[in-house]
Amino acid sequence: MDKFYEWRHGYENFAREFRFGRNQSIGAQEAATWASSLPPKALVADLGCGFGEPITGTLVRAGCRVHAVDASPTLLKTLVERLPDVSVECANVTEANFGGERSFDGVIAWGLLFLLPEAAQKDVIAMAARILRPGGSFLFTAPQQRLEWPDAQTDAPSLSLGADVYRKLLQENGFDTPAEFEDHGGNHYYQASYLGNNRSTSS
Ligand SMILES: C[S@@+](CC[C@H](N)C(=O)[O-])C[C@H]1O[C@@H](n2cnc3c(N)ncnc32)[C@H](O)[C@@H]1O
Repeated sequence: MDKFYEWRHGYENFAREFRFGRNQSIGAQEAATWASSLPPKALVADLGCGFGEPITGTLVRAGCRVHAVDASPTLLKTLVERLPDVSVECANVTEANFGGERSFDGVIAWGLLFLLPEAAQKDVIAMAARILRPGGSFLFTAPQQRLEWPDAQTDAPSLSLGADVYRKLLQENGFDTPAEFEDHGGNHYYQASYLGNNRSTSS
């Protein structure tokens, strides 16, 4: 897989369609429930934030301080217009620096992980462990089964590693056994706490 695969997969070329087509009921309640499990004014990294609704906006309205990362400058521009207090970083998620912050209370990746090649997905899970404080929470969506499919928006290949692999990767990176849920749209998501004993990465 070449280095620029992930950038090509970004939604930049489909920003307008995504903005107007994103179902606003998907993930909103889940993000609100997750935010309510975090400390007041929690510091949260939103990976693959898109144009910021409903996920980033829900977190902001719940009182979180959000650092949002996305590869698409057009989507981020819309996010900044709507949510001016969010700190944003336009980057390939595996190369983001999060403003040097390494003690996030939460990391959320709604609709991102399976867009990335396998190695990058592993990098993101390791990265979440590096930037969370011990006890911090990681929430990400990915289908329960191992499968590949063309992304509905971009037609680019998407890949779920499957629940067994995600659970193993979480454990290897110092997370507890994830709680797993389905939203009302059938999206499977994983929620795990970082225990602070990351064995496979260094800071
Ligand atoms: C399905 S959308 C989800 C957006 C948002 N989380 C939501 O729920 O509406 C996936 C997002 O991930 C971003 N993305 C894809 N590959 C990326 C990468 N390698 N680095 C950073 N962002 C990426 C896309 O630009 C897009 O905004």
